Amino acid sequence: MVNQRAGVLGTGHSYPEGILTNAELANIVETSDEWITTRTGIKQRRKAAPDEYTSLFAVRAARQAIERARLDPADIDLLLCATVTPDQILPSTGCIVQAELGANNAAAMDIVAACSGFLYGVSLADSMIRTGQVRHAVVVGAEILTQYVDYTDRQTCVLFGDGAGAAVLGPVDNGRGILASKIKSDGRYEEQLYSPGGGTRKKPTAETLAAGDHYFKMKGNELFKVAVRSMAEISREVLEQAGVKAADISLFIPHQANQRITEAVADRLNVDLSRVYSNIAVHGNTSSASIPIALDECVEAGRIKEGDLVLMASFGGGVTWGAVLMRW
Ligand code: ACO
Repeated sequence: MVNQRAGVLGTGHSYPEGILTNAELANIVETSDEWITTRTGIKQRRKAAPDEYTSLFAVRAARQAIERARLDPADIDLLLCATVTPDQILPSTGCIVQAELGANNAAAMDIVAACSGFLYGVSLADSMIRTGQVRHAVVVGAEILTQYVDYTDRQTCVLFGDGAGAAVLGPVDNGRGILASKIKSDGRYEEQLYSPGGGTRKKPTAETLAAGDHYFKMKGNELFKVAVRSMAEISREVLEQAGVKAADISLFIPHQANQRITEAVADRLNVDLSRVYSNIAVHGNTSSASIPIALDECVEAGRIKEGDLVLMASFGGGVTWGAVLMRW
């Protein structure tokens, strides 16, 4: 069996022009800039216009990642689109993105793992590249969450934002690439973060729409504790698997859910905040897009150099969680 290590060959991101600030939210729901900033670290989030949809941003992010990898869309063998806000139920947003890109040699599909979707995709693409089943994979995380929040629920509507991020993965040499990855889920926690309406269990009817059953419902407090515990635990597991100490990590990119979650996880891992990336102030929580947007921002800003050890960890609805460690 081939054991070819996979690494990131190119990254990209894209988001809507529209911005929703905390002050604007305070005009819609009973909240304040002060509460949102101190409890979450968020100052603003990107908000798609009513006529914008998820694949628009997914295509832009993926195209940029493919160009930066110096590849042609026809070179892509696998396209994984992580999203909980698809364009439509059928076909997958992955197939819609594939057609727009002209990635006609790829197998395309969606991954529904909420905020962990991107790391789920990276982990699966890594396995398929390692075994020689595919050579080049695009993993894109894309969401329009602001169209699925209830603007009368101040606990959720202040958290989420829109955008997309992507990475092209392919074979790499010289000790570089993904050293370890792990993904997990526990469906028993379904109701900690879910959107009950719109599927076959609670069908999309005028009544379910009027009741707001398609909006995200969240038990933020409980989720907070599970998120910190799971992200820290799975990060330790991948570090151990790769025989790497937390002190050796050059950059930690956690899922951007809440600045307090980020700081609690970094503290548990003993990683100094100077080595932790945060963009939550400007993007809020973009679910599956959060880590690839952050990764591309770090690449653009020159925060990652060849040979650096980069750890990424996520947690999201499902519940799902995961971690990936790579040498850049
Ligand atoms: N503005 C003002 N007050 C608020 C707001 C708001 N936006 N939201 C809640 N409050 C109030 C509450 O009503 C409560 O008031 P009370 O004490 O009078 O009852 C008080 O503030 C404290 O509420 P808590 O829920 O305890 O606040 P907490 O510090 O836990 O922060 C938050 C809430 C930000 C939601 C936090 O729990 C959190 O970040 N949870 C995790 C979210 C997460 O990780 N989601 C998973 C990933 S997302 C995905 O998978 C798509």
